[in-house]
Amino acid sequence: MTDRLVSDDAEQPEGLIRAAELLRDGRLVAFGTETVYGLGADATNPLAVARIFEAKNRPRFNPLISHFPSADAAFRHVVATPLARKLAERFWPGPLTLVLKRRDDGEICDLAAAGLPTAAVRVPAQDTALALLHAVGRPVAAPSANPSGAVSPSNAEHVMEGLGGRIDAVLDTGPCAVGVESTILDLSGDTPRLLRPGGVTVEDIEAVIGPVDRHHEPQEPNAPVAPGMLTSHYAPGLPVVLDVQLVQPGDALLAFGPPLSGARVTWNLSETGRLDEAASRLFAGLRYLDQQGTQAGCRRIVVQPIPETGLGLAIRDRLGRAAAPRPAPDVPSSQEHHVA
Ligand code: TXA
Ligand code: MG
Repeated sequence: MTDRLVSDDAEQPEGLIRAAELLRDGRLVAFGTETVYGLGADATNPLAVARIFEAKNRPRFNPLISHFPSADAAFRHVVATPLARKLAERFWPGPLTLVLKRRDDGEICDLAAAGLPTAAVRVPAQDTALALLHAVGRPVAAPSANPSGAVSPSNAEHVMEGLGGRIDAVLDTGPCAVGVESTILDLSGDTPRLLRPGGVTVEDIEAVIGPVDRHHEPQEPNAPVAPGMLTSHYAPGLPVVLDVQLVQPGDALLAFGPPLSGARVTWNLSETGRLDEAASRLFAGLRYLDQQGTQAGCRRIVVQPIPETGLGLAIRDRLGRAAAPRPAPDVPSSQEHHVA
């Protein structure tokens, strides 16, 4: 059941208060921004973020944009460069997203950032959205509130058509004023780079900070725009082998469900075989097995079978990308296949 919440801020705060409660509780709430409706979840809670991918049926863990009520709130989680401050001052609140390095003490979870050392942040220009973000008091991850592959929603009706029954609530804030997604600018490298054209023009950005590298990768629908995406910060050094039924001595095991025995080091994604829990524990698990496994002299990370349905698809996709694309020479088995 998806609750339809209404809030005209000061006049009718109940809907907004309820939406904030749900978000703080790890639930999914769609809300309007000036660009499109976003599907919000607590960006510090990996289980909540996993539910976004599940509800959207996204076959991949793309990094998500975290939303904040102010630049100060955003810059508590990412490193504010002088250019970022200038742009924030000029365009926030507004349809501009900045990609910046994550701070060590930042709370945006790995799943929301897809394991990257950077995170995308923005302050939307919509009064109710700002009031909501303020009430939540935490970063709110929000991709467009549509099933993967469908058109972005610009009113609450669209959201219900696409995601009704799959999310906890939609906060109806009326139609979106801009209607196209935010401009994404990567400020984490040496020169500012446009990753996605959007609500703020490049000309307006250049008027504030000078030349921007406009050469962004051509985009297939729903593909991650970030070229750096595939080389994750946490890509393990050990080779990864999927669908393993038999553990060999010296294996580090990424278990799912009842764990296979015989591994030197084990991390269980979900003892009860829940895919949302597995997604939420994936990045931490890879990091753990890579560190502990390497220390313990393990030669590879083996992964128990994970179903190719629902979130399992995204988990398997991510594991494939996280794997070092080199063959492990001495791992013969017809049961197993290497992923590159
Ligand atoms: O207008 C918008 O930006 C809307 C509203 C809801 O705020 N949100 C939105 O989110 O369009 P989404 O998930 O559809 O698009 C996020 C894009 C993705 O293409 C992703 O690859 C990119 O932002 N992105 C996120 N984090 C990134 C990062 N650390 N580096 C590079 N690209 C990143
Ligand atoms: Mg989208």
